[in-house]
Amino acid sequence: VATSARLDDPVPDLLERGDDLAALVARLAQARNGSGGVVLVRGAAGIGKTRLVSALRGWAREEGVVSLQARAGRLEQDFPFGCVRQLLEPVLRPGAPGREELLAGDARLAEPAFGVPGTADAAADAGFGTLHGLYWLTVNLAERGPLLLTVDDAHWADAASLRFIAYLARRLEGVPALVVLTVRSSEASADGTLAAIAAEPTTQTLDPAPLSEGAVATLLGAALGADAEPALVRACHGATGGNPFLVRELIEEVRRGASAVDPSAIDALGPDGVAAAVESRLDAIGAGALPLARAVAVLGDGATLARTAALASLPPDEAGRLSDALVGAGVLRTGRPLDFVHPIVGNAVASRMGPAERERWHRRAAEQLAAEGASPDLVALHLLATEPAGRDEVVDGLLAAGLSARGRGAPEAAVRFLERALAEPPGPGARATVLSELGRAAAALGDPRAHDWLRAAVEADGDAEHRMEAARSLAMALVYAGGADEVLAVCERVGAAVSGGGELGRRLDRWLVGVAAVSPATRAAAGAGAARNLAAARAGDRLAPGLLASAALEVVLTGGTAEESAGLARRAVADGLLDESDPDSVEPASAFVALVLAERHDELETLIRRIQEIVRSEGDTRAYAATLAFRAWGRHRAGRLADVQADIDLHPVLPVPGVADLLLAAVHVQVLVDTGRLDEAAAVATMIEGLALDPELTIVQRMTEAVAALRLAQGEPRRALEATGRAAAWEAAMGVAGGGLWSPWRLQAAEAHIALGEPERAVRLAEDQLTQARAFGASAAVGAAQRVLGLARGGGNGIATLEEAVATLGASGSPLEHARALVDLGVRRRRAGRPGDARAPLADGLSLARRCGAAALEERALDELVAAGARPRQRPRNDLESLTPSELRVAQMAARGLSNKQIAQSLYVTVKTVETHLWRTYGKLDISSRAQLSSRIAADPAEPVTDATAPTGSAPADG
Ligand SMILES: Nc1ncnc2c1ncn2[C@@H]1O[C@H](COP(=O)(O)OP(=O)(O)O)[C@@H](O)[C@H]1O
Ligand SMILES: [Mg+2]
Repeated sequence: VATSARLDDPVPDLLERGDDLAALVARLAQARNGSGGVVLVRGAAGIGKTRLVSALRGWAREEGVVSLQARAGRLEQDFPFGCVRQLLEPVLRPGAPGREELLAGDARLAEPAFGVPGTADAAADAGFGTLHGLYWLTVNLAERGPLLLTVDDAHWADAASLRFIAYLARRLEGVPALVVLTVRSSEASADGTLAAIAAEPTTQTLDPAPLSEGAVATLLGAALGADAEPALVRACHGATGGNPFLVRELIEEVRRGASAVDPSAIDALGPDGVAAAVESRLDAIGAGALPLARAVAVLGDGATLARTAALASLPPDEAGRLSDALVGAGVLRTGRPLDFVHPIVGNAVASRMGPAERERWHRRAAEQLAAEGASPDLVALHLLATEPAGRDEVVDGLLAAGLSARGRGAPEAAVRFLERALAEPPGPGARATVLSELGRAAAALGDPRAHDWLRAAVEADGDAEHRMEAARSLAMALVYAGGADEVLAVCERVGAAVSGGGELGRRLDRWLVGVAAVSPATRAAAGAGAARNLAAARAGDRLAPGLLASAALEVVLTGGTAEESAGLARRAVADGLLDESDPDSVEPASAFVALVLAERHDELETLIRRIQEIVRSEGDTRAYAATLAFRAWGRHRAGRLADVQADIDLHPVLPVPGVADLLLAAVHVQVLVDTGRLDEAAAVATMIEGLALDPELTIVQRMTEAVAALRLAQGEPRRALEATGRAAAWEAAMGVAGGGLWSPWRLQAAEAHIALGEPERAVRLAEDQLTQARAFGASAAVGAAQRVLGLARGGGNGIATLEEAVATLGASGSPLEHARALVDLGVRRRRAGRPGDARAPLADGLSLARRCGAAALEERALDELVAAGARPRQRPRNDLESLTPSELRVAQMAARGLSNKQIAQSLYVTVKTVETHLWRTYGKLDISSRAQLSSRIAADPAEPVTDATAPTGSAPADG
């Protein structure tokens, strides 16, 4: 607690804070009841933020709330996870009670933040996994009992710690933990992460007010031992603006200077006066006081007495004596490590050094710490404060710190260190390494500057292997960012450098085969290699797992079968696709795509789960986002709309959206269309169309598909045809036989033509699609084509085709398509004057649509049922069928005996989300315990599609 030791007690130091403290206490009480959140205490330096929060901590401790704290410092801003470490290390010290339980489950992923290096693989991008781990660590901790986490001066907190707090802030609902941050109002809005934290709905802000004249009078009276003159009080209040820190400084000056107080002299002592006042106090103590104070200012958090003495070139005894004197003068606080009574005082000392002087101190501090064997990050903090001078030791120090920061899941800090290393500048030997590491760290953040740095690394002098790896990183960053053209140019240049042949040439060729499906341009460049690779796979050659994955995708593109494609993907996985773990490879993504298109939904889920575990432990935000997007796409095709929504909510937001965001957004648009939220769908589509992505990219076809679906739902067939026209052009440019499987544009175009009254064209398109789908042999694709063909044909013939579609889709794993076909069949039967025959498919379609969460289709089915003379039941009550897919899944896991936390971890959602799902499930099933849930699920293990209609007497049901 920052109390000036010179103010003899009892000087009250918590005046006029009753309301603020009560508000904090109330928020803490809410948190204890499970509504966690964040409070930002904002205000000018010295207004009393730290004091207020320390009062809350005292209160919390008495109430048995575990209270952990950190204090950020200006110097430590670049120390990755510095604040998180201060907060959590006390409970994680080796031997701390319950340490193992805290680190159980996903919390283990937090370890890199505490200096336990992540994977040995220095190339692993870092970030997301650590945050996720820290989140679970916090949840585990809060499970022991309510928790108060405070970070003082959070405007100086390192970026990685702030990212964690922001991540936590979004997930505190349902966790009995309160996070309190103090922030200088002048700096709060400057930092994007703090602004994001402030914008969270569960975040509150508190702005302690300046002290009144009355409070100033109380302070003066207590300090001077007598009531102060009203004129003095007024002058004091005026000069300080009621800022308690300044009031105290003023009192200190008054006490030191004069026995008779002269109010008119006081006006001079505003915030600027503090620096002068501090200096005069140092002068009064004598030689040595100034260097000691400067050493404390330079060392920041790590100012042990021994270090400070050495840096100030003072004998330890002398340093000890001087530090006591500085405590007596109200400059330093009591205790170790050495620290100022308030950051304002520290600033005053630091700001009195000229830039050259300050940099000399930091350079010496770096040397001293390096000699001591301090951590590379700590040394690097001081190196950051020095001027570039082309020194190799500085480059080495910063490079080491950059690698360590990345290994810890703090790519922002790595970028800072490495940017500074680049500015030094490095000698020719280290330049390529600095550039490529800098580029990779930036790429992991989705920072577009990564491209320039990696380009420079490719061009830099260095050995061929190094350039080749930089080129792969660059190419991958470009693929993620959606710039396919340059990928080829890069590969060409490097290809020339490695002059074909050799191990490096093979690596490059393999990379090219991997991107053969990325765009027409990459396909033109790599198609021959991809064909050779597929031939080798078909011949049963021993191929690297990644090449098998590429072959699996090539099968789809070149008109092979779903069976073969899935088989190759499966072989790739069995042979260790995931063990190859290479952040710069697209091969795993090829396996995902193959499984989606081959409709192997369960296999896709398993594969994605396994790969997510890997990319999360490596902290690769880009790759994790990509896995979420692919899974969402697969789930949408499997009709699991509610689960897709969960994926969208979990998606980590990258600073610059790339292809993964595009894919996810495209799926999002489709889900919004399916759920009848057309305005929202249109808004997302507009946003994504604004992204500067190469329109030829294969992945952009997902967006085209989504836009076409949106236009059809909006009743705008002509605009739908614009979109399908783009998809057709893409297919022609790719020159592939299996394009229709990739994008069902023919069916969408057919639906548009039906709406426009052009059934012949619709029939032709649907027939084409049916032929392709049959050849491929994926039943949902076949059924979807049959459905549209049935609609296009019309009449009795059309009804027969729709019946085929229903039969095909009933056996496919695609309930949403199935539901569509059922409803369409019902509609056509009713219009053909067969309402009795219409009701059964309509009822089944209704029930399935409900299951999928496809509100738009559900509504249509309901209307049609009524029109067909049925009196549909209300949403079924008390019935497993009334559960959404996610509710059902959570319920099934709970019934199997998994705890809410285990369920949350395995579904990557918060405990609160699981609780909400279960709570709704209990409500729908009208039960109140897990035991009841288990027996209900056990009694009804299948997923029956019951007839949801109660036929009226006038229109008897048949069939
Ligand atoms: N409400 C108060 N009444 C009296 N003194 C206070 C009050 N709040 C703070 N102080 C004193 O003012 C000084 C600055 O307060 P501090 O909490 O460190 O400010 P901040 O954290 O906002 O910069 C400290 O010495 C503190 O004890
Ligand atoms: Mg403070």
